[in-house]
Amino acid sequence: MFPLIRNRRLRASESIRRLVRETTITPDDFLVPLFVVEGKGIKEEIPSMPNYYRMSLDYLEKEVKELWEMGFCAVLLFVKVADELKDNTGKEALNPDGLMQRSIKAVKNACPQMLVMTDVALDPFSSYGHDGIVVEGEILNDETSEVLAEMSISHAQAGADFVAPSDMMDGRILTIREALEDEGFHNTGIMSYSAKYASAYYGPFRDALDSAPVDIADVPKDKKTYQMDYANRFEAIRETQMDVDEGADIVMVKPGLPYLDIVREIKNEVDVPVAVYQVSGEYAMVKAAAEKGWLDHDAVMLEQLTAIKRAGANIIASYFAKDAARLLF
Ligand code: PBG
Repeated sequence: MFPLIRNRRLRASESIRRLVRETTITPDDFLVPLFVVEGKGIKEEIPSMPNYYRMSLDYLEKEVKELWEMGFCAVLLFVKVADELKDNTGKEALNPDGLMQRSIKAVKNACPQMLVMTDVALDPFSSYGHDGIVVEGEILNDETSEVLAEMSISHAQAGADFVAPSDMMDGRILTIREALEDEGFHNTGIMSYSAKYASAYYGPFRDALDSAPVDIADVPKDKKTYQMDYANRFEAIRETQMDVDEGADIVMVKPGLPYLDIVREIKNEVDVPVAVYQVSGEYAMVKAAAEKGWLDHDAVMLEQLTAIKRAGANIIASYFAKDAARLLF
């Protein structure tokens, strides 16, 4: 057809490129992860996540107000738990006055309209650093799901809008959904980490929360018996379909950039919103390369976020949210 059709006409100026652009990023796309610590007046940078912080509740309130002002509408909460409060069953996770429960209330107090999602998993509360109860080297499935259901109710009671189970136990979405219904939390949603891979990209997050699996006898050194093998594709669809059938309102693929083939496939398979978690290691890589002067931070960040959305993400959980806001909105 050349020269009748010349694709470069649609690229000839910034204006025509803007006009025909298929994918754009807005504050509505972001779920902003926040790390909370005990104490007062604390805002400490996470060494392997430059310009990202653990905050005490007073700073959390300030942060949430600022995020709302910037146009963001949803946060995802994680807490760092003191070692002496950790045990094998994650008892502290159920404390009605625990850090997570107080964090939920703090966010709602500072900014009632901000949507609050909470991480539901045992690892920050586990003395072994696992997402489930460990017995004789095994991660117990059904017993763990029961604790996750109790945890979800506790978060709902504190005011969480959505719970986000990130553990990968089988059947936990149904267990959580039924428990929420039984307790009358019909409108508390579930965002399931449905295709969560056993990934080496979670390293900086585990530094942030001090939640890595511990190196002692009879405790698995990795999470490969519950998180997915990164070599697998069909399994991701099966996992996600099951979570939708069990009552997940939103599903998630995690990590992000190396898994965009999975994102697209899942987007084509299910009709619930699909979230993508651009994880801590992805963030750290861009920050480190930019610090060395090897990559243009802002350009690479925008390219990655756009690629994640182009692949099919309706929601992006990303530590770059504020960096993107600075440039875009
Ligand atoms: C806990 C959880 C993890 C992440 C989110 N929730 C770590 C893990 O599974 O080991 C990782 C997020 C990130 O790396 O940014 N279940």
